[in-house]
Amino acid sequence: MDAVVQMEELTPKEIVKELDKFVIGQNDAKRAVAISLRNRWRRQRVDEGLRDEIMPKNTIMVGPTGVGKTEIAKRLSSIAQSPFIKVEASKFTEVGYVGRDVESIIRDLTELAVNEVRSERTEQLTKEAELKADDKILAILVPPPFRTESDRANEPDDSDDLESELDDGDADLDGPEPDGNGGRSLSTEAARPTLQAIDPELIKKWERTREKMRARLARGDFDDTEIDIDVRESIGAVGLNILSSSGFEEMGIDMKSIISSLPFPTEEKLRREKVSKAREILTQQELQRLVDMDSVVKDAIERVEETGIVFLDEIDKIVGNETFSGPDVSRQGVQRDILPIVEGTTVLTKYGMVRTDHILFIAAGAFHNCKVSDLIPELQGRFPITVHLSSLGKDEFARILTEPENALIKQYRALLAAEGIGLRFTKGAVDEISEIAETVNIQHEDIGARRLHTVVDELLDEVSFNAPELKTKKIVVNAKYVREKVGDLAEKRDLSEFIL
Ligand SMILES: Nc1ncnc2c1ncn2[C@@H]1O[C@H](COP(=O)(O)OP(=O)(O)OP(=O)(O)O)[C@@H](O)[C@H]1O
Ligand SMILES: [Mg+2]
Repeated sequence: MDAVVQMEELTPKEIVKELDKFVIGQNDAKRAVAISLRNRWRRQRVDEGLRDEIMPKNTIMVGPTGVGKTEIAKRLSSIAQSPFIKVEASKFTEVGYVGRDVESIIRDLTELAVNEVRSERTEQLTKEAELKADDKILAILVPPPFRTESDRANEPDDSDDLESELDDGDADLDGPEPDGNGGRSLSTEAARPTLQAIDPELIKKWERTREKMRARLARGDFDDTEIDIDVRESIGAVGLNILSSSGFEEMGIDMKSIISSLPFPTEEKLRREKVSKAREILTQQELQRLVDMDSVVKDAIERVEETGIVFLDEIDKIVGNETFSGPDVSRQGVQRDILPIVEGTTVLTKYGMVRTDHILFIAAGAFHNCKVSDLIPELQGRFPITVHLSSLGKDEFARILTEPENALIKQYRALLAAEGIGLRFTKGAVDEISEIAETVNIQHEDIGARRLHTVVDELLDEVSFNAPELKTKKIVVNAKYVREKVGDLAEKRDLSEFIL
């Protein structure tokens, strides 16, 4: 469980510190999710009997749009390095929705984890696979002076008794001998002696040649040399794979593995490829053999069950008002459908059963027209923690513009640097932008930090458009420039509201 090991150092304080790098303010929310995350780490260390009793601290984040709810969840998952999936709860109220779709959240999460673990393993094994591929290529470029296992397997007259083979070998050694680089032509190949029968000197010589060739291979000397390599293909499965892409998935049936387990013949084909390409193909082939899918799946399921995080966005959109009928009925229906996976159930995925008992659920919603307590009681009960995120004002905006690692101003500076232009914002400019963003949010519609994007985009619109032709290579944005460019953003709205 390497995902958990890395959590070791992440105390709640450190988790908050990590979140601080990307999200400004919202300290209550950061604290709450940090505790939830740490609790799972604590739970791993509890005796087995009690461990199963400890339920995750599922959390609901309540707050207006654009104040960092999704951002917190996203960053949390990368800190935890756990399988993470984000779904809009409202998606399940859409037309065509069927009950079992809710379970697809867990299926997708599992799929994600399997891919993650597989690519980790693949990465770990790539070196080994490349070595094996090189071995295979070398065996073709510099065939051994004796017969190998695979030679023997490929020969139809394998049943010949060993003794006569040995005799053949002896005879060969006395006769005309293939030199170190020899044995390339097929005629001498068939006559190669077995390992036991060969002069040790000859083997040493071959080994030396081989290592020399290995170095040259690594240098790319043979990249354009063409060789024949074995490629294994399942003949029938290729066409049938198309069938597997849809439908069955939802039922938890893995068509691909069913197909590949069917007795379609696998065809071993010789393919002529350049060494550079052959190396890729053979490495892939080796990787497929080396990566143990059973253990990948086992690890992935364990990760999902023990450390998975599901982010249920827009949970307020599935709150139905009892007095209405129609679509609201289906909203309550969605709550009921979600209930089991939050409460803990077993979902059948194509990789096997996945228990959801200890998956951490973080829900978020604006809850403008309803309250958390409007959720059906059973679901509320499964979200023991509710945190409120505050709406953002100009002070937060000024920090959001400059502090986070991915701050908007940093992004723009990097973009314009690509055009060879140095961009600088004075403190006055940052304050002015923040103030304008706040005003527009108040006068118009509070879209939180997203407003900063619209303001800064507009502010730099001209620069962005003309950047390649600009004579000045240094632009300083000050308060005056901001007022000139986007000052009317706030004023115009004011006026239009006045007229209305
Ligand atoms: N507190 C914050 N600190 C830094 N950036 C923020 C903050 N709040 C929002 N942002 C930025 O604003 C954008 C929108 O934020 P986010 O997606 O988290 O909103 P949200 O709260 O999930 O809103 P919604 O309810 O609309 O989904 C993101 O680009 C995010 O980086
Ligand atoms: Mg969001």
